Amino acid sequence: MRAAHLARRFVGALWPGRPRAVDEEWVARVLLPGELALWRRMPRHDRRHSIRVARAVQAALAGTVHDEDSRWLAAALLHDVGKLDAGLGVYGRVVATLAGGAAGHEMADAWSARRGFTRRVGLYLRHGELGADMIRLAGGREEAARWAAAHHDRASWTATAIPSEVVAVLDAADDD
Ligand SMILES: [Fe+2]
Ligand SMILES: [Fe+2]
Repeated sequence: MRAAHLARRFVGALWPGRPRAVDEEWVARVLLPGELALWRRMPRHDRRHSIRVARAVQAALAGTVHDEDSRWLAAALLHDVGKLDAGLGVYGRVVATLAGGAAGHEMADAWSARRGFTRRVGLYLRHGELGADMIRLAGGREEAARWAAAHHDRASWTATAIPSEVVAVLDAADDD
């Protein structure tokens, strides 16, 4: 199961295309200028992933009281932006995911204080909190920052103050 998932992600990440123009234009309408500048720094496969997640969130919230609320779309588009700091390629990400699973995420702090590849793995595993800092520094919305920090940490979801039905949609839409 896990190997199949990682393999799928590996293949997805190697696909070279940039997002469709219509999606890029949609993102430019949804995000604030600072958020958009940050989003555009992500590599192509991360931008494609973020669009897939945000489109799924848009569809799931359609017709609800949260319909077209751009805060939740921004949260979806920026949730993985912290991966930028690690600068890991596809291979390194697979290693980081396996290492985090084997050693536990508690190791991430110690690893990110090290050097070289170990540091990158540590930073990658901490991409949630790093992303939240990046969003705040870019003048992005607090809801997007809170979701980035919390998205891999179920225990902190209620503390985000994001409506629980929105959290459920954001989580279900994210396939990594
Ligand atoms: Fe993530
Ligand atoms: Fe994700």
